[in-house]
Amino acid sequence: MTIRVQVQDGITRIELARPERKNAITAEMYGQLADALAAAARDDAVHAVVVHGSPTVFCAGNDIHDFLERPPVSGQSPSVRFMRALADQEKPVIAAVNGAAVGIGTTMLMHCDLVYCADDAMFSMPFVSLGLCPEFASSMLVPLSAGYHKAAEKLLFGEPISAEEALEMRIVNRLVPPGEVLEYAMHQARRFRALPPVALRETKRLLKAGQRAAVHLAMESELVTFSRLLGSPESHEALSAFLERRKPDFARAQSGAVNSTSTKE
Ligand code: COA
Repeated sequence: MTIRVQVQDGITRIELARPERKNAITAEMYGQLADALAAAARDDAVHAVVVHGSPTVFCAGNDIHDFLERPPVSGQSPSVRFMRALADQEKPVIAAVNGAAVGIGTTMLMHCDLVYCADDAMFSMPFVSLGLCPEFASSMLVPLSAGYHKAAEKLLFGEPISAEEALEMRIVNRLVPPGEVLEYAMHQARRFRALPPVALRETKRLLKAGQRAAVHLAMESELVTFSRLLGSPESHEALSAFLERRKPDFARAQSGAVNSTSTKE
């Protein structure tokens, strides 16, 4: 099982369901996520979307095997399709976060409308330590929410972000006791059913309108750099080290001991 989609009582509930890999997202899962969001957008009976993970982990980021074997280097990649579908989603999207949200697990929250997390949830964007750079407009949206200096600290060092800090950084709406996050998100989603759908859709469109073009531009430009870095010896070393449960040796990477398939911008 990779993702589960349930459409019930006007709400599309999307569950990342790969707990044995901490809900790391594969290309196949990105495709399923994109399809689920497209279906929610098309279905007039759907009032809101809720995205969640498992009781102990939200998402460990992009699947690192996929990063090494099937890097998302084009605008047609399933991950790009998913993130565009999320950024452009007309219906309200609510995220319910328990446990860790790493890499794209945190990035995707920047595009959701409401984010509720457990008071012991942890967020991180460890792109630099993986030899990579921010993705899908996080270099723009994190500073916009948290201010430049806080965003710089979190994105340059890739430091973990506690739930309380995430609240201060304004990347989540509310902290909820761990066992109650999903139910609270579903409760908030159900509130949308009572609201007039056209006014709701237009209000979301207007809320996002001021930044829409800039978000898409940032997504395109980050993708160029991200794809180049994904082919670099540094990122091969960092990603291999994670899978081999060892510390990365960047001197080894620089000496050319690690294979590289570097692409040009
Ligand atoms: N891609 C592929 N496999 C992953 C993964 C990922 N992003 N994240 C975790 N896994 C795998 C681990 O390799 C491990 O596999 P194994 O049992 O075969 O060794 C399994 O999932 C369990 O992960 P583990 O790290 O042992 O769990 P944990 O509870 O100690 O830690 C996390 C959980 C989420 C904190 C940790 O797995 C983590 O930090 N992952 C993030 C990886 C990352 O940097 N992602 C960002 C990509 S941009």
